[in-house]
Amino acid sequence: MSILVTGGAGFIGSHTCVELLNAGYDVVVVDNFANSCPEVLNRIKKITGRDLKFYEADLCDPDSLDIVFKENTIGAVIHFAGLKAVGESVLNPLKYYSQNLGMTINLCRKMAEYKVGKIVSSSSATVYGAPEKCPVTEDVPVGHANCPYGETKIIIEKILADVLLSKGLESVIVLRYFNPIGAHESGMLGEAPNGVPENLLPYLTQVAVGKRQFLSVFGNDYPTHDGTGVRDYIHVVDLAKAHIKAVERAYKADGIEYYNLGTGIGYSVLDIVKAYEKATGKKIPYKIMDRRPGDVAESYADPSRAEKNLGWKAQFDLERMCRDADRWQTMNPDGYASVN
Ligand code: UFG
Repeated sequence: MSILVTGGAGFIGSHTCVELLNAGYDVVVVDNFANSCPEVLNRIKKITGRDLKFYEADLCDPDSLDIVFKENTIGAVIHFAGLKAVGESVLNPLKYYSQNLGMTINLCRKMAEYKVGKIVSSSSATVYGAPEKCPVTEDVPVGHANCPYGETKIIIEKILADVLLSKGLESVIVLRYFNPIGAHESGMLGEAPNGVPENLLPYLTQVAVGKRQFLSVFGNDYPTHDGTGVRDYIHVVDLAKAHIKAVERAYKADGIEYYNLGTGIGYSVLDIVKAYEKATGKKIPYKIMDRRPGDVAESYADPSRAEKNLGWKAQFDLERMCRDADRWQTMNPDGYASVN
């Protein structure tokens, strides 16, 4: 029995493949390299010393998925595939609704056809919208996300719950990620955004290596301890490990369960700048700019349900996240296009 990982060449997907292979699972990856590249798969193999099966396929095309289910005995699916750029989703909402929802619908249909009943699905803290208070528990009703990308995450959660009700699935574990950062400690896997990074850490690491002149800090007049936005940053390897626990849980449980994946600690943008400078010895020039539309003041998790039910707790601290992110950026200044 293999674990099917959709979007397995992406940032979180690739780190999860490493943890799955290290834990002894056989892994089948489906990816269309829309926001990743084949080199990622070579690096997963180098790090783990194990092979995985790969299909270049687009989940928007149901026929391309058929062969994957036909040729493999799939025990459970981890579904990462999807578009994730907040800004692009505002400019092109139909692309996001059609692709993110279409991929999930096609996947659920194939799973039902081949009687694969267990799925672990990537969701996001964005489903909480602007939380009334932090830390956020999973029982807080999902709100309105601040962008079409976030709305697709809310709708995907709903689709999975409805398919489960109709007995098209047996067990669904929804993982709501807070802010994944860091990189594999080998420096071989990390976040490689196309073009100008939208998110804080990839932008900051590019400033650190001199690719960009300064960091724009989006607003310093939020009601937070220093006025800048507060988030719950979590090491991507901790996040990847949570997926192993979630798969184990999916095998045992039935029904749908929701888990926040964060550390439970909120750090501001300026906290991150200081922590990065301290961890790496590099100076990060920054300028205070206007608020970014759609941003919330603060968002951090109550991750206690994951600890109680999954036996998972984040291990890596902010210093480690910064060091690993910096190592990745330094070793791969141009992402996976860099020669090693
Ligand atoms: N920020 C800056 N400068 C930058 C980039 C970001 O100051 O160049 C600030 C933001 O204003 C925010 C914080 O850094 O206060 C974090 O911003 P990110 O863009 O890194 O992350 P977000 O919290 O906005 O969004 C992330 C993911 C989404 C996901 C969301 C869940 O990008 O996909 O977390 O809350 F939905």
